[in-house]
Amino acid sequence: MNLIILGPQGSGKGTQAKLIAEKFGLTHIASGDLLRAEAESGSEMGKVFEKILASGELVPFDTVLKVIEPVLLKSKGGFILDGTPRDVSQAEYLDSFLTDLKMNIDKVILLDIPREVSLDRLAKRAILEGRSDDTPEAIDERLQLYHNKTVPVIDHYKNQGKLLVVDGTLDIQTIFQDIVSKLN
Ligand code: AP5
Ligand code: MG
Repeated sequence: MNLIILGPQGSGKGTQAKLIAEKFGLTHIASGDLLRAEAESGSEMGKVFEKILASGELVPFDTVLKVIEPVLLKSKGGFILDGTPRDVSQAEYLDSFLTDLKMNIDKVILLDIPREVSLDRLAKRAILEGRSDDTPEAIDERLQLYHNKTVPVIDHYKNQGKLLVVDGTLDIQTIFQDIVSKLN
């Protein structure tokens, strides 16, 4: 099974993707985590986009592909993609990339939360984890990009009949049970 998890910043994509990956034996492919790890490694590539990450803007897609494609190609038992695709052109690229490999996306999970919940959760995470993009300015930039660029991706998969919408405001286990029952 190949899945995508979508939702605004702080909606719990990473949190739920981990649980889903464990339950169904999938590879969790989190583009943001892979990019942050590359930046922290101090590599030449990482140095180039470290500032972009901290600003909340999007990293050029060819760079994102360099970190996610090797993991995707190795994920034999299926995957859950978290953080990609971020706009319709990325979704179209992914569709044709998978078609070439005779693979496809089975379902797309959308975690639905309002802006206040994003702001509340990211403010808490900023204290706990200190992610470079959990500053008020970068959070604002990320939420704007989500609304302008990522929201159209929802319709892209809705039109393919793959969208599952989940209330992301509930507690972690309730959301997880809801996703599992919708997938079954
Ligand atoms: P990315 O890492 O994908 O970050 P994001 O989309 O901003 O989302 P977050 O990770 O902030 O939120 P989440 O939904 O995973 O929530 P989480 O589970 O952590 O991307 C980062 C950057 O990388 C981008 O800005 C861009 O620069 C770059 N990038 C990545 N992919 C790219 C691409 N394809 N193209 C271009 N650039 C790309 O939960 C949030 C907090 O809430 C946590 O503290 C958690 O413990 C808590 N929480 C979770 N669920 C609940 C719950 N149900 N109740 C209460 N608290 C909860
Ligand atoms: Mg995340």
